[in-house]
Amino acid sequence: MRVQVAIVGAGPAGLLLGQLLARAGIDTVILEQRSPEYVLSRIRAGLLEQGTVDTLEEAGVAQRLHREGLVHHGVEICFDGTRHRIDFQGLVGKTVTVYGQTEVTLDLMDARKALSAPSVYEAESVSVHDFDGKSPRVRYQKDGTTHEVACDFIAGCDGFHGVTRQSVPAATLNSYERVYPFGWLGVLSDTPPVSDELIYTNHERGFALCTMRSMTRSRYYVQCPLTEKVEDWPDERFWDELRSRLDAKANAELVTGPSIEKSIAPLRSFVAEPLRFGRLFLAGDAAHIVPPTGAKGLNLAVSDVRYLAHGLIAYYGNGDSTRLDRYSERCLRRIWLAERFSWWMTSLLHRFPDTDAFGRRMQGAELAYLFRSPTAQKSLAENYTGLPFDD
Ligand code: FAD
Ligand code: PHB
Repeated sequence: MRVQVAIVGAGPAGLLLGQLLARAGIDTVILEQRSPEYVLSRIRAGLLEQGTVDTLEEAGVAQRLHREGLVHHGVEICFDGTRHRIDFQGLVGKTVTVYGQTEVTLDLMDARKALSAPSVYEAESVSVHDFDGKSPRVRYQKDGTTHEVACDFIAGCDGFHGVTRQSVPAATLNSYERVYPFGWLGVLSDTPPVSDELIYTNHERGFALCTMRSMTRSRYYVQCPLTEKVEDWPDERFWDELRSRLDAKANAELVTGPSIEKSIAPLRSFVAEPLRFGRLFLAGDAAHIVPPTGAKGLNLAVSDVRYLAHGLIAYYGNGDSTRLDRYSERCLRRIWLAERFSWWMTSLLHRFPDTDAFGRRMQGAELAYLFRSPTAQKSLAENYTGLPFDD
């Protein structure tokens, strides 16, 4: 088999890249190690920046998103039992959209099927070859047979644990990492959300987040030690812990019910530099991870893919490789800004093992400053709703 671009990974990054390229007449194959059902069962991000919505529109997959997505004009932040609203619309004239990553993935899968573009699910032992030479190839096994795909370019969209970044010679890759000493325990339940907008809470017992997928489906998170297992958290214990961290009004309005999904996610900041190695490009979680506090993971994956797709389209359209040559530099500028914001939100809102009485007073003072300073709020709103693209 020969294609122009071989894409490893059918998460949102790989599927979106495939869709943008297919619409420009560039042929691709997507190789994914899991089944479609497994990919769709992973409950992850839920909040889309306007730039992400625009890119999904460009890909022709935003119809259901516009019908079912919930447009939010602000968020609330709670400290010491008092909530303060950050008014995105008033501060920066922008909004964000609540629409789950699983829905984005499903829309992209349907669009790919409609175009009859090839995807190989349950592709085993995927490996990448000669990406720094002239004839890049991707090999995989399926049903006991080894297959090889020859291509012009390889897109590594295979997430943090994927094979593409790990195939790059160690001497050519710099990585920067911070692992946080806690995780997020998340619960999805078919109950109405506690509030119309998201509530981020800094409580002495730890961070909590009230978010949603629709007006009948809620998503809640509580910070938990990394030593905890999901089995340690029967629903009752989760709801009790969440209640103990919420303000009185949220507590009174919280509707609980059986969980339909429960998982623990570790928190990490990670950046690999550069993002290009000859004819191999890394995009999304394969290249970087942010802690979810800033809601940036999925949005950053989409912004990488947008730069990569535009670079490839220019290359195949008129032989212009300047955009591809600038891919790493342009992505990394946005990536580090998102890393900074996600790290800042995480530091501000969580209880760290060394958060003593002084540390907690400092978090309180930083939040008090935020709540009285329109400039500080504007900075939060700008970063949360997404920085503009430089194209
Ligand atoms: P992924 O979604 O990870 O997709 C990569 C794909 O590659 C997967 O389908 C994987 O199966 C496949 N793959 C991996 N290795 C191979 C291989 N060797 N061969 C072939 N295929 C391979 N972000 C937020 O904004 N908010 C959140 O609440 C949030 N929660 C998260 C919870 C968890 C547990 C995780 C892991 C991430 C979370 N994120 C969250 C981040 C967000 O979901 C990611 O940034 C987003 O999924 C990135 O998309 P991606 O396509 O780059 O990577
Ligand atoms: C979510 O809806 O799952 C979500 C929203 C905002 C975040 C993290 C997760 O910061």
